[in-house]
Amino acid sequence: MENRLQGKRILITGGSAGIGEACAERFAAAGANLILCARRIARLRELQAGLVERHQGQVDVFPLDVRDREAVQNFVSEIAERKLTPNILINNAGLAAGLNRFQDGDWDDWDRMIDTNIKGLLNVSRLVIPLMIAAGGGHIVNVGSLAGYQVYPKGNVYNATKFAVRALSEGMNIDLAGTGVRVSMISPGAVRTEFSEVRFHGDREAAAKVYEGYTPLSAADVAEAVFFIINAPPHVNIQNILITPTAQRNAYCVERDGKT
Ligand SMILES: NC(=O)c1ccc[n+]([C@@H]2O[C@H](COP(=O)([O-])OP(=O)(O)OC[C@H]3O[C@@H](n4cnc5c(N)ncnc54)[C@H](OP(=O)(O)O)[C@@H]3O)[C@@H](O)[C@H]2O)c1
Repeated sequence: MENRLQGKRILITGGSAGIGEACAERFAAAGANLILCARRIARLRELQAGLVERHQGQVDVFPLDVRDREAVQNFVSEIAERKLTPNILINNAGLAAGLNRFQDGDWDDWDRMIDTNIKGLLNVSRLVIPLMIAAGGGHIVNVGSLAGYQVYPKGNVYNATKFAVRALSEGMNIDLAGTGVRVSMISPGAVRTEFSEVRFHGDREAAAKVYEGYTPLSAADVAEAVFFIINAPPHVNIQNILITPTAQRNAYCVERDGKT
């Protein structure tokens, strides 16, 4: 397969762990230059050093909380001033917080999910897209989820945020007609990352149970699918990839130890 990522600049939100980190590794290996942002700058610096050593490309890292609109404005101004306009934006920063029946839902968990998964994606996209339009084109990949297709018990607000990501991906793609910017989405099922630990507020035992009895996706599996999306020739838009572990037939049907 032809590699079209050589020399491209790719901005990944939530680049410090999981899917974002695996994407960084995959794209750097393909010769891309990276801009990585997340709240944990120490982890980003460590990742930056390793990426530069292994792949030699340019890697810029920024501390950023995508919920903080003013911080996002400053960040985007800085990349514009430093002529680091990305060709590709991966809107990956996101989380699930809690797994509760709606009537037991926690307000803070709800705010964190809505503010990060929906408003954070809006904050970054609204400011980066004009730079891409001015540059004559670009590609945005929003990280949705299987949870954006099927609502599962106790998923309520997380499901709602990922349904929103799906609607926003479609809406952006339509509105960007005529600009040279294409919009895609990747919708993973269960991926073994820090996701479940974050969902269960650091409870590692509860997190481990999510992946018991079957082989979940790895972050690298998802990164490979994102690579396929962004490596497509300019006249092709892979609008969505729904990718699950083979054992996860849908959100409700998971073979554990070979049984459903
Ligand atoms: N794992 C799954 O099963 C799964 C399935 C479908 C979709 N997804 C989606 O995939 C995306 C990545 O999740 P993951 O599985 O890779 O989880 P992860 O290992 O917990 O990584 C999440 C990343 O998002 C960043 N992040 C979280 N809140 C942020 C904020 N306010 N501002 C900036 N960065 C923030 C984290 O960095 P800092 O903590 O350093 O800020 C981290 O780099 C999320 O959108 C998630 O909803 C995951």
